[in-house]
Amino acid sequence: MPSDGDDATTAESLAERLIESLVPGLELLSIEFGRRLGLYEAVAEVADVTPAELATRADIDVRMAREWLEQQAAAGFIAVRDASTAPDERRFLLPAAHHPVFLDPDHPAYAIGTGTMFAGTASAFDDVVEAARTGAGVRYGAFGTGVRRGLEQLNRPGYVNDLSGWIAALPDVRATLEDGGRVLDLGVGTGWSSVALARAFPRAQLVAVDLDPESVAEAGALVDQQGLTDQILVRRANATEPDDFAEFAADGFDLIMFFEALHDMNDPAAALRVARGLLRPGGAVLVGDEKVADAFTPDGDFLDRLNYAFSVLHCLPATMAEGVRTANGTVLRAATVHEWAAEAGFTGSEVLPIEHPLWRFYRLDP
Ligand SMILES: C[S@@+](CC[C@H](N)C(=O)[O-])C[C@H]1O[C@@H](n2cnc3c(N)ncnc32)[C@H](O)[C@@H]1O
Repeated sequence: MPSDGDDATTAESLAERLIESLVPGLELLSIEFGRRLGLYEAVAEVADVTPAELATRADIDVRMAREWLEQQAAAGFIAVRDASTAPDERRFLLPAAHHPVFLDPDHPAYAIGTGTMFAGTASAFDDVVEAARTGAGVRYGAFGTGVRRGLEQLNRPGYVNDLSGWIAALPDVRATLEDGGRVLDLGVGTGWSSVALARAFPRAQLVAVDLDPESVAEAGALVDQQGLTDQILVRRANATEPDDFAEFAADGFDLIMFFEALHDMNDPAAALRVARGLLRPGGAVLVGDEKVADAFTPDGDFLDRLNYAFSVLHCLPATMAEGVRTANGTVLRAATVHEWAAEAGFTGSEVLPIEHPLWRFYRLDP
């Protein structure tokens, strides 16, 4: 039995941990503050800035400019040339090594989306709390541009730099796509996975679908802007509804992809069944989803903690808003994927040897 003294120490260290957690949380919001106001660009476009110069360049209040610059320097996100100069004369700069993190959307180190995702997740917080009482869930679109943009920022570097490498783990499918082939991207979000695949396999034809109308609109605009309308067809569809894919059933697909989307679908086994029915002979399903531990444990590791938090605050309510059937949440264990695959009639379900810091990849064969 722990003594009263042990309890007091435990309480103190837990309280300390919570108070310390305020720092990274608030710093993420300060990053999103800078992103929305274009402050990182305004600092980076010149050698260095004073608060007044930043205020002019970004068209913001000078006192706010000074506070943000000092806060960013205190956090180690930007640098100051000479901290001993008077506050209004201090010159701040974005170190070259920090540019990719804040300013290069294709760079593997691009991480500004952490702030966008954090703010976007919190943007529907009141609805999420209320939905916990009713069980009604919160529509994906209710999280607004924050979650769409945040996910896009976080996932785009992986798609543009690594997606063709992931496909190399399915050599038969890759060979088909090199000669042409048809691909279905289910739960495409704002479109970057399809754009990256189309660029990597210029002879392949793609259909990109999502349930969320705002994501579909943004994916369509991206495909247009990238000049890929001849190669990628964007549609609103529910992955769990076979009728939504009737127009594609005759042609079928050589590859069907679910990237960070299977866990969000309210009936994932039904979605896999729909996908299985759309596969051409020799075709396969590729799932990329969260790399959580094999089983629930208290005091979870980084990935379980991250994904459980997203689950409570975003994914589970968004899935429940589709109507509760499975409502898995973000924490998608490997055994669950294999179970759903078997339920959907797949005879092969294997984890692929693809390195990714956050995801695990599965190949499903009919
Ligand atoms: C976490 S986001 C991932 C989006 C995108 N794959 C990416 O990597 O950025 C999950 C996506 O699945 C979509 N989704 C959820 N349920 C769906 C369903 N039943 N049918 C089609 N899309 C669905 C959501 O609208 C959302 O865009």
